[in-house]
Amino acid sequence: MKLFGLLALLLVASAFADDSSSSEEENEGLPLAEACDQEACSLPDCRCSSTNIPGGLNPRDVPQFVTVTFDDGVNVNNIITYRNILYNRLNSNGCPAGVTFFVSHEYTNYALINELYNQGFEIALHSISHRTPQTYWFEATKEVIKEEIADQKAQMAHFANIPPSAIKGVRMPFLQLAGNASFEIMSEYGLEYDCTWPTIAHTNPGLWPYTLDYASTQDCIIPPCPSASIPGVWVKPMVAWSDLNGVPCSMVDACFFIPDRENEEEWYKFILSNFERHYLGNRAPFGFYVHEAFLAANPAVNRALVRFMDLVNNLNDAFMVNAHEVVDWVKNPKPLNEYRSQGCRSFTPSICNPNNCGPLFSTHNQLAYYMQVCSACPSNYPWVGNPLGQ
Ligand SMILES: *[C@@H]1O[C@H](CO)[C@@H](O)[C@H](O)[C@H]1NC(C)=O
Ligand SMILES: [Zn+2]
Repeated sequence: MKLFGLLALLLVASAFADDSSSSEEENEGLPLAEACDQEACSLPDCRCSSTNIPGGLNPRDVPQFVTVTFDDGVNVNNIITYRNILYNRLNSNGCPAGVTFFVSHEYTNYALINELYNQGFEIALHSISHRTPQTYWFEATKEVIKEEIADQKAQMAHFANIPPSAIKGVRMPFLQLAGNASFEIMSEYGLEYDCTWPTIAHTNPGLWPYTLDYASTQDCIIPPCPSASIPGVWVKPMVAWSDLNGVPCSMVDACFFIPDRENEEEWYKFILSNFERHYLGNRAPFGFYVHEAFLAANPAVNRALVRFMDLVNNLNDAFMVNAHEVVDWVKNPKPLNEYRSQGCRSFTPSICNPNNCGPLFSTHNQLAYYMQVCSACPSNYPWVGNPLGQ
């Protein structure tokens, strides 16, 4: 689903900013996060929000991580792009390049999720319904987030036949946080990091991932942001890009002042100019956050991205990785030389014998759906409140 531009998000956010009462009462039990105590908060389990390089490393000794992510449903159309541009890529240390998919359930083909997982990519959560309006997410209680996100973890593992323990990341629809609620659910259901929260104030130097044990110093672009102490949950900030007029944008396809969509060379330069802010700076992880539809509609942008990934795969101090690998590194920061030789991530391959299911009746909108799964077919179209379609 196409995101609003950042300006639109800011307008929407400020329109909501006065209404702060609804989700507060039910969080009474949580302690308010205090200013971060650098002594008490130390790796691997705790990190204050900061632009400091983990482990106090010199930028030249830091692997520059690049996290390419795609949002929303995975289907027979967008898998063609994924196969074309992502499969069989290696980083300069010989390890497979990583990519993270923040998947929403509706219209997702779970046999294709299994295929992406078996390519070594990361499968993460982006809700079951991805429904509009955005206020639904703004107001979402813990109960709603449990049904949209925690239940999606079980749903994904079941239909794609992948281990639940491999599912660790969350991005909320429309980048709309719900205060403490999504982080509390993450902590209760073994989800390790969130990649929803944009920063436009900490881009140069860039903000590194941190935990929510203590109060975050990150700017809150799309409120409500969490303010409770929620130990052990990681925030992987979406460090904004800067468009051609210096306006920040969190998703590449939401940047406003962009090069001509048919000009591959200008797009390549645009990507590089944003990359260099990280690479020549404090080496905070660099994100290329996009929807496949933007690449499919703009072949020159797609080619520019391929050139950029080829470049990264040839640099001996930059690595395209699954977003989760960044959190792993931050917990246990190793200098570049050690990182290069530490060996590659591993995973247990998982088989899929695809079943074509449908028509499956859906109670939420009376439509008939078809879906491909690696499990037995469900009886109804799986949805919020009935994630396995029983
Ligand atoms: C988050 O929890 C803190 C501490 O209980 C509370 O003060 C704050 O209002 C909560 N935020 C939201 C948006 O619910
Ligand atoms: Zn989305």
